[in-house]
Amino acid sequence: MFKWANLRSDKLNLEREIVSPNGRNKCKFILKNGKIFYQVTRDDKIIVDLSALGFLISGEEPVGEDLKLVRAITSSHTETIELPWGEDHFIPNNYQEATFYLAETKSVRRLLTLRFRVFDDAVAFRYEIPPQPKFQQITIADELTEFNINLNSLAWKIPAYEPDRYEYNYERAGVYELTHAVHTPLTIKTPSGYYLALHEAALYNYGSMTIKLEDNVLKSDITPLSDGTCAHVSLPFQTPWRLIMVADSAIGLTANRTMYALNDPPAQDFSWVETLKFIGIWWAMYVGEWTWAPGDRHGATTEHAKAYVDAAVRLGIRGLLIEGWNDGWEGNWLENGIRNNFVKTTDDFTLAEVAAYARSHGVELVGHHETVGFVDNYEKQLSAAYNYYAVNNIHYIKTGYAGSMMQINGRKEFHHSQLGVLHYQKTVELAAAKRICLDIHEPIKGTGIERTWPNLLSREGARGQEYEGGALSPSHTCFLPYTRMLAGGMDYTPGIFDLTNSVKRISTTLTRQLAYFVTIYSGMTMAADRPQIYEERFQDVFNFVRDVPTTFERTIPIAGEIGEYYIVARLARDLKTWFIAGVTNEVARRAHLELSFLADNFVYNATIYTDSADAHYRDNPFGHEITARRVSKKDPIDVYMAPGGGFAIELKPL
Ligand code: NOJ
Ligand code: CA
Repeated sequence: MFKWANLRSDKLNLEREIVSPNGRNKCKFILKNGKIFYQVTRDDKIIVDLSALGFLISGEEPVGEDLKLVRAITSSHTETIELPWGEDHFIPNNYQEATFYLAETKSVRRLLTLRFRVFDDAVAFRYEIPPQPKFQQITIADELTEFNINLNSLAWKIPAYEPDRYEYNYERAGVYELTHAVHTPLTIKTPSGYYLALHEAALYNYGSMTIKLEDNVLKSDITPLSDGTCAHVSLPFQTPWRLIMVADSAIGLTANRTMYALNDPPAQDFSWVETLKFIGIWWAMYVGEWTWAPGDRHGATTEHAKAYVDAAVRLGIRGLLIEGWNDGWEGNWLENGIRNNFVKTTDDFTLAEVAAYARSHGVELVGHHETVGFVDNYEKQLSAAYNYYAVNNIHYIKTGYAGSMMQINGRKEFHHSQLGVLHYQKTVELAAAKRICLDIHEPIKGTGIERTWPNLLSREGARGQEYEGGALSPSHTCFLPYTRMLAGGMDYTPGIFDLTNSVKRISTTLTRQLAYFVTIYSGMTMAADRPQIYEERFQDVFNFVRDVPTTFERTIPIAGEIGEYYIVARLARDLKTWFIAGVTNEVARRAHLELSFLADNFVYNATIYTDSADAHYRDNPFGHEITARRVSKKDPIDVYMAPGGGFAIELKPL
């Protein structure tokens, strides 16, 4: 039974405390002279101090000024959610909820509802504006949510409103320095040693929340539309959940799945959705062998596509991505993106022929739509373009929005604005209707909507491996698990084995490329190098890539520190095979892995891929060892990670 801690109470001034199931997290809702606030503690230590709530509405009085409590309803919820795919098959959804129904005492007596959910590992709340007379279509000019976090906390950030969207290197800063807006998830370490991530869940029909320090308080900064407002909505309306993930350690934070729990279950049948591993007519373009545009070195020809289908079969990889098959890639494709035609192929590529060939070889094609952010051009073709794939039996599409801004209704809009969010959602829903799965590059950040729309198998939304050749350091993928990955799976395009290519030099060792298949989860995962590299040079190493699944039963974060290293174990959905991997920054490390999570009385064949003692991401990236041995849960494994290196282990029960 839920019990209020009833702290102060009259209608305009009251404090109510909502306590997490295990009692450690407490969120206080505070009404003070008609204004609304909240405060969060863990183990009775303040982690978010008194923080204001409210909105500015265009042409109206601000919301949140003279409210009184009409009614409060509390409940507790205990549930285990089953997910069709992902890092965990089952996730908890256990919380105490309190809903505060508020009404204005003066002016037009508008209504506002605040709903709080307090979990053992998170606090979340959202605003709900019910339908009401004379207040139906509104323009939200500003959201006034504060996150009053100790200014001496540390934060790991990427900047918002920059031309490369989310594709920046993470940097550590003091919270007092966050005067330029940053994206969420915003990971924070408080002076008392707790780890938080400010994020949001269920982002629909609203601008994405960025975070900015103003008047010495972190505040929500909702991505504006080109007219300067946050969102045009009709009532009833609810904001995304404002989510504060809470953990005792950095590695503990990586196990947080509350974002999914805050999203609705699917409303339609998605039993047809399957995760996918694929190779692609892709990296050959990055290393300059082939081109996206037609010509002598055109990558997406019928002939190349068939050869890649054959290679996929030989390699034991189920999918094949083909980029550059459609009309419009000529010249400077970033500038000419508006010319992309998604139902017309280049002369040297016949989609029906390639699709039939793939099908007869049991290979799933991954189609490609590079919009370059020209959303108007894409939306005109959307239905025809998805049909074109559907009639050719293609059930996966990688989309891309590689412009610095989107063009929507003839205007320039941020990818993460309300209009951007609406566009991405339109693609997800249309794809679902046609039984197509999506992998969105240059996406809107993940807010857990994959729970409701499981055909959204992956997104990019961070600097991926395409930035190798100068713009990535080994620490980058040691930041991701603690930052970007809190927003869900990422298509990092792992598995580049041609490490010393003169066009694209890679800043990792070879075995670290294997580790990525485990440390960077993605429902659609690309083995990104050219197939001949795998077949001719590294068949034995590639076995790990072939075997590693794209969906797991259970994930156990083992150890790590933000930007330094990350070690994780994942159980396959066969409930038998384990995959363990780790990555380190420029610092070499040894790890002593206790295998106590293995099943009792089982003996496993362990195949261990490690850096050799003389490996180094700069001078000797290929140095590796593959060893095999039998282990049980009582046999720890010691591994070595070279500078910029990593390891990967497959444990198969005998
Ligand atoms: C950027 C995407 O991240 C990349 O994967 C793709 O190949 C290019 N855009 C071209 O569409
Ligand atoms: Ca990209």
